[in-house]
Amino acid sequence: MPPTQSQPDEISTWLAEEVRPMIDASIERSLWNQRYRERLQYQVETGGKRLRPGLVLLAGELCGLDQQPLDDCAAAVELLHTFSLIHDDLVDGDQVRREEPTFWAEYGEAEAVNIGDMLLAHAVALIPERGTTLAAEAVREMTVGQQLDFALADRRDVTEGEYLDMVEHKTGALFELCLELPQRLTDTDLGIDGYSALWPAFQIRDDLLDFEAGKGRDTIGTDVRTGKRTLMAIYADDERVYEILDTPAEETTTEDIETVQAIFEETGSFEYARRRMHTLATEAVTALETLPDTPQRQRLIALGQYCTDRDR
Ligand code: IPE
Ligand code: IPE
Ligand code: MG
Repeated sequence: MPPTQSQPDEISTWLAEEVRPMIDASIERSLWNQRYRERLQYQVETGGKRLRPGLVLLAGELCGLDQQPLDDCAAAVELLHTFSLIHDDLVDGDQVRREEPTFWAEYGEAEAVNIGDMLLAHAVALIPERGTTLAAEAVREMTVGQQLDFALADRRDVTEGEYLDMVEHKTGALFELCLELPQRLTDTDLGIDGYSALWPAFQIRDDLLDFEAGKGRDTIGTDVRTGKRTLMAIYADDERVYEILDTPAEETTTEDIETVQAIFEETGSFEYARRRMHTLATEAVTALETLPDTPQRQRLIALGQYCTDRDR
């Protein structure tokens, strides 16, 4: 019997009801006797979609990775993600994520730096030795991406190519690790490199969600406040937008955010970003054509749509 088609809403159910409990239990087991466990768990317990461990599980199943290293790698990527969020919220000055205070808002800046570092170390310690270099490289590329994000934030001539390069690093590197780790640990080549087009699609959806209150933040437009060069800002290429983006975060008003939103509408920038996102996601899913038709492949296909349709 052919496998049944997975739908995007089945993906969110799978992530919430299967992946999350499993990964959270692995994380808890790995941290239960650690000092500062409550702080290490804080950002994990605020929620999140568990997309990265979901990808590890799918790739691991396709590669035939044993259960223990599979669980460990899945938990490790979520811890790496958690460390990156704690540091990211600190540098972006965001006080709310997943409808809860961000780590630094709860425990202060010094602890955000240190507990983030601690989570990074715990994550790496969980990864089987043959995968640790790959993980270090992914973290290096992700932090390069964060540097690029900072560097673009005061420029008015950023190109789409530069944006995509930044995103490939800051967001793509960790997603990429999720697929690469199981392949490295089993000496398998799944031949799905083209699936990486999904990572920029995911980030464009993240940029769009900033105007839909979908990131569990108390206000919309936090990217506008921090002056982020999103794909919409690059496409609009409008002096009025740059003026507002370059206004210090604490001086940016609700009206400013509405102005930016209106300009993005008028200039077709939202429309352009959506189109670009869908093209990238389609490209990603097309790269799976070479895989045999399995439930894992169906889930990867559905994940493509989930990433672009998601409302959080
Ligand atoms: C948010 O990632 C950070 C980005 C790289 C854009 P997610 O949207 O996967 O975050 P959670 O874990 O589901 O909250
Ligand atoms: C987050 O990027 C990237 C990393 C955590 C490395 P953003 O700053 O664009 O994502 P959000 O909007 O805070 O989730
Ligand atoms: Mg951020």
